[in-house]
Amino acid sequence: MMLITGTSGQLSSLIVAKAKELGLNFITASRSLNADRQMDFDHIETIDFTGVDTLFLTSAGYAEDDIVIRRHNNVITAASTQGVKHIVYTSLSYASDHLGFALAHRWTERRLQESGMAWTILRNGLYAELIGSLASSYEGRITAPFGNEEISAVSREDLADAAVAVLKDTIAHNNKVYELSGVKSFSVPDLAQRISVRYEPTDLSTERSRLETLQLLPFQVPMLMSIYASSMAGFLKTNSSDLTSLVPRPRDALATACTTATKET
Ligand SMILES: NC(=O)c1ccc[n+]([C@@H]2O[C@H](COP(=O)([O-])OP(=O)(O)OC[C@H]3O[C@@H](n4cnc5c(N)ncnc54)[C@H](OP(=O)(O)O)[C@@H]3O)[C@@H](O)[C@H]2O)c1
Repeated sequence: MMLITGTSGQLSSLIVAKAKELGLNFITASRSLNADRQMDFDHIETIDFTGVDTLFLTSAGYAEDDIVIRRHNNVITAASTQGVKHIVYTSLSYASDHLGFALAHRWTERRLQESGMAWTILRNGLYAELIGSLASSYEGRITAPFGNEEISAVSREDLADAAVAVLKDTIAHNNKVYELSGVKSFSVPDLAQRISVRYEPTDLSTERSRLETLQLLPFQVPMLMSIYASSMAGFLKTNSSDLTSLVPRPRDALATACTTATKET
């Protein structure tokens, strides 16, 4: 039996919808009551993989690294002691290595690879929706400090399609790592031009000061700053992606980012 976790989340709910459309046989797990099994990875006693041989582990949320690492460790420990044979994990692209939240993903990859179970690692690129939302315009201007370099962002829909392509035949994807960055990169100046607003980038210290006035959790400020700094330095662009090996016709990530950027104005 196959189990998909995190099914109240934006990515995992898309995966569930697509897996259902394809007629795949699976059950769901979430902290929410709507799932087949209610599990909270912060509480190992709630993790029940009875009868599960293939686990699709959606990475578990935004938090300090020690919390995310503990969550993922709880899942992998429970899986290996409860008879799971194969874990498919949603990680983060190599191009995102300088982001604040890359560390917990790399830790989880290593933990999985040393677990003795079969694994497949989907190294998801940064969501186009996330870039669009951070680059939302206000009064006809985008003022975030992205710099001018391109970003290889990818839509959540494409990442869900990639996940389902793997779930259709997990054995064919045993012990493989897929880099799933977007194949057609775009810059924030491209985005501004497409939605007909001005791009007036600020600098990092101005943005940090602005973020510190908002009601954010402590880990969120460095996390967001790492996205801007990596973009500015050109590290979020890559020419190396395996996306088309799983999704032959990826969507236009810039169009996805524009939809989010204009939705939030
Ligand atoms: N590629 C990117 O751009 C990017 C950016 C940021 C983060 N991510 C990672 O990608 C994941 C999925 O993205 P998303 O857009 O779907 O995020 P989302 O809508 O915020 O969903 C958060 C996910 O984390 C799960 N989760 C959080 N705490 C959990 C816990 N204690 N136990 C079990 N599950 C827990 C949620 O599961 P339930 O609510 O169903 O329990 C849900 O699937 C995120 O959780 C994050 O790790 C990716």
